[in-house]
Amino acid sequence: MKLFLVGYMGCGKSSLGRKIARRAEMRFVDMDSVIEEREGASVSDIFRYEGEEYFRGKERELIEEVALSVDDVVVSTGGGVPTWQDNMSRMNEIGVVVYLRRTAERIASRLSPHGRQKRPKLRGLNDEELVRFMRENMAEREPFYSQARYCIDCDNLSDEELIEKIVSILK
Ligand code: S3P
Repeated sequence: MKLFLVGYMGCGKSSLGRKIARRAEMRFVDMDSVIEEREGASVSDIFRYEGEEYFRGKERELIEEVALSVDDVVVSTGGGVPTWQDNMSRMNEIGVVVYLRRTAERIASRLSPHGRQKRPKLRGLNDEELVRFMRENMAEREPFYSQARYCIDCDNLSDEELIEKIVSILK
């Protein structure tokens, strides 16, 4: 089984994905990290020097690799993956897609300064601009994210509750 976690930047896809994979004894793929490792550059540098389209192409290649792999795998996608071309329908074909939904306010309060700095789309915004940008951007992305097979409202659940919920989906 292949599980794709989707959702906005900072909603917890990577840290939850790693824990779910460990619990369910599945392989773990963090898309941003794999791309950074292969390119030998950070996501911000890839955006800066190669451009967003190049990065989105790398994300799509990785989805196709996951499709071909025989392993059970948990994939933490980058927040922009669902909005690109037909990535959402492709991921829905390949496996089970789970959307981790959180409010902009909650994400803003969870994001560390480093977490803001490393994301090219959030860098340089002050607190007020950050929440405003995320609210608007999230609303634009919602129609893509909500194509997921499962949508989970995360704000009132602990990490442990979320992990249990998602592991039970895998069974
Ligand atoms: C992006 C999300 C990031 C990363 C890049 C672009 C986006 O991933 O892929 O900065 O467009 O939402 P995370 O969701 O892991 O932050």
